[in-house]
Amino acid sequence: MGRKAYFLAALLTLTACGGRGGTGTVIGLSIPTQREERWVRDVQQLRRDAAARGLELKLQVSDNDAARQLAQCENLLAGGIDVLILAPHDATAASVIVEKAHRLGVPVISYDRLVSNADVDLYVSFDNMKVGELQGRYLTGKVPKGDYIVLSGAPTDNNAKLFRQGALSVIGPLAAKGDIRVIMDQPVRDWQPAEAMRLVENALTAAQNRVDAVLAPNDGTAGGAIQALAAQGLAGKVPVTGQDAELSAARRVLDGTQSMTVFKDTRRLASSAIEAAEAMAQKLPPTYNAELTNGPYKVKVAMIGAQVVDRANLDEVLINSGYLSRTDIYGE
Ligand code: BGC
Repeated sequence: MGRKAYFLAALLTLTACGGRGGTGTVIGLSIPTQREERWVRDVQQLRRDAAARGLELKLQVSDNDAARQLAQCENLLAGGIDVLILAPHDATAASVIVEKAHRLGVPVISYDRLVSNADVDLYVSFDNMKVGELQGRYLTGKVPKGDYIVLSGAPTDNNAKLFRQGALSVIGPLAAKGDIRVIMDQPVRDWQPAEAMRLVENALTAAQNRVDAVLAPNDGTAGGAIQALAAQGLAGKVPVTGQDAELSAARRVLDGTQSMTVFKDTRRLASSAIEAAEAMAQKLPPTYNAELTNGPYKVKVAMIGAQVVDRANLDEVLINSGYLSRTDIYGE
């Protein structure tokens, strides 16, 4: 290769591999898992939005491991990023990441899950308490009296607390009245479907299958719970909640084994995070519509609504919005 051609090739490679599209802005993205469809969709949209704005996105997946997430974020910071978008695996442990980023002058967006006791520059999420409330209302609407299994999400996830609080704001008063009996109340480690299945199996055994409703905090755990119910011939007979509008859950809602899911449009979440990240990289203030106290700090929040989906409105909400495709749900 001649000298000129070599430099041309090198220049092309540089432009291509940077993928910076000219802005030179680099966003670090730390995501807890890709084992759930929900988080895969987040990453897809985050990538699309970053590319559309000419921002380079450096992704790290911590696979539900707090120590790995810290190490990965340290690497991102060492490599030089302008903004960090962080969806913590462990809300408490992740506050160190925020401190480290700030020491380097890198602003942090807490993504979907709040980093506890941390001075994050923005929190983008859904109205999580409301999500739990929607689940609680739906379930008590179907089963106003009876024996309940109450599962909650990972204890390391601040959202799990909010979903539970929201759901119990509805279920609690009925339990206090004696209409509802909570026969099991357990968190699901790392939101694992297999753990949810094991818990529901245990509850069914202990109650000799006399269970009337299952509060499952998300679609993954709902899947596990429904497997346990199916083994006893109870799938479709016992109402089960969920959230995330995952494809498998949409199918279960249609076949009647899962009563509902909650649609949180992760496309909007991702877009608002990237828009904010771009603004912050330019030292501009991000837009927000709420505020909350996070330990000693006041945090700006960009909050998005959520919607119940059941068999009656599934097509309208999930297909018409383009979130899931008709073929994916119903087949050819
Ligand atoms: C998210 C849910 C998700 C769960 C498990 C939560 O923080 O808000 O949408 O199902 O984590 O990944």
